[in-house]
Amino acid sequence: MTEDVFVQLVNVSKSFDREEAVLKNLNLEIRKGQFLTLLGPSGCGKTTTLRLIAGFETPNSGDIIIDKENVTQKSPHQRCVNTVFQNYALFPHMNVFDNIAFGLKMKKVAKKEIENRVFEMLKMVQLEGYEGRMPSQLSGGQMQRVAIARAVINNPKVLLLDEPLGALDLKLRKQMQLELKHLQRKLGITFIFVTHDQEEALTMSDSIVVMNNGVVEQIGTPEELYEKPRTKFVADFLGETNILEGEVVKIKDTEVLLNLEQEEDIIRIPNMNYGFGDRFTVSVRPERIKIKAELEEGDVWLQCRIKERIYSGFVIKTIAVTKKGKEIIINEPIEQKSNFGRNDDVFVTWKPQHSIVIKA
Ligand SMILES: Nc1ncnc2c1ncn2[C@@H]1O[C@H](COP(=O)(O)OP(=O)(O)OP(=O)(O)O)[C@@H](O)[C@H]1O
Ligand SMILES: [Mg+2]
Repeated sequence: MTEDVFVQLVNVSKSFDREEAVLKNLNLEIRKGQFLTLLGPSGCGKTTTLRLIAGFETPNSGDIIIDKENVTQKSPHQRCVNTVFQNYALFPHMNVFDNIAFGLKMKKVAKKEIENRVFEMLKMVQLEGYEGRMPSQLSGGQMQRVAIARAVINNPKVLLLDEPLGALDLKLRKQMQLELKHLQRKLGITFIFVTHDQEEALTMSDSIVVMNNGVVEQIGTPEELYEKPRTKFVADFLGETNILEGEVVKIKDTEVLLNLEQEEDIIRIPNMNYGFGDRFTVSVRPERIKIKAELEEGDVWLQCRIKERIYSGFVIKTIAVTKKGKEIIINEPIEQKSNFGRNDDVFVTWKPQHSIVIKA
């Protein structure tokens, strides 16, 4: 274990009743002050992982270590952890002020200090003037912000946030993303954040854990996951991409030719000691692809016919179709858009280094 690991999950497995395990041999290390995000589709085990760290569930096997202490069998209040739940769970009979002040009151903090800190929190979550409202008089987004304030005010060493921005509209959500990130830097709290919004994960995290069906697919920085996904699932889950499947049909010194599944098309990838018949997944991001009438030296290309051109603000999205009917998505920035139209026969091309090659 490296020096600054603050939260550690070691071979943690969890099943409910006699069903298939929800978490299978999970290993995670979270450094002090890190912003770590658990990302994955609904039902993959994100909330369960948080509940185990918080102490609301006990693993069937494995250990949970926080600040060098094995807390696996300890109750939630014996851990220096606070949670913002997916369903906010405010105290319905208390107004906003008392909800936020609750933790400090329990710790018998002086009244004046409680007041100062509650108002500081209200400012942070942009709810100044709402301190007298009851939860039933708030919108979903407002309740969520009260829940964040109520957790942050306790200055926990680890803050667990389960989709805390889910109920907010896009603009407020973006604002709160920045606020939360600033707050985390300022206070040095370790954040373990759950979302299934991949863009949110990319913009907020130091490190992202991509989960799929109870196992970790890959852990890395946003850039690593986006540029160097190790599995097809990760490539597909993070951002928009084109997934091409093929096998090696010809080997040259520095490159191999891939025959794409059910395609006559052939693309080239760099040869890293691959063998004849090896199967591959190649991911190509839509923003890396260009549409051309003539090929240039070194292009990787597929022959396509344009099916659709869609204007979407800052990009033109093109759907092009290969002879065998595979759809390829291309995103061109507005100022660099090509002038092709529906039913044009074109080459869709990219540079060899923009093929993200994943061996099957
Ligand atoms: N108390 C429980 N009893 C039985 N099964 C449970 C329990 N809690 C969770 N599960 C199951 O465990 C799996 C993982 O659930 P979990 O809530 O961790 O998913 P999640 O990744 O948070 O999904 P979402 O994005 O929808 O919130 C699901 O199949 C769920 O039905
Ligand atoms: Mg969940």
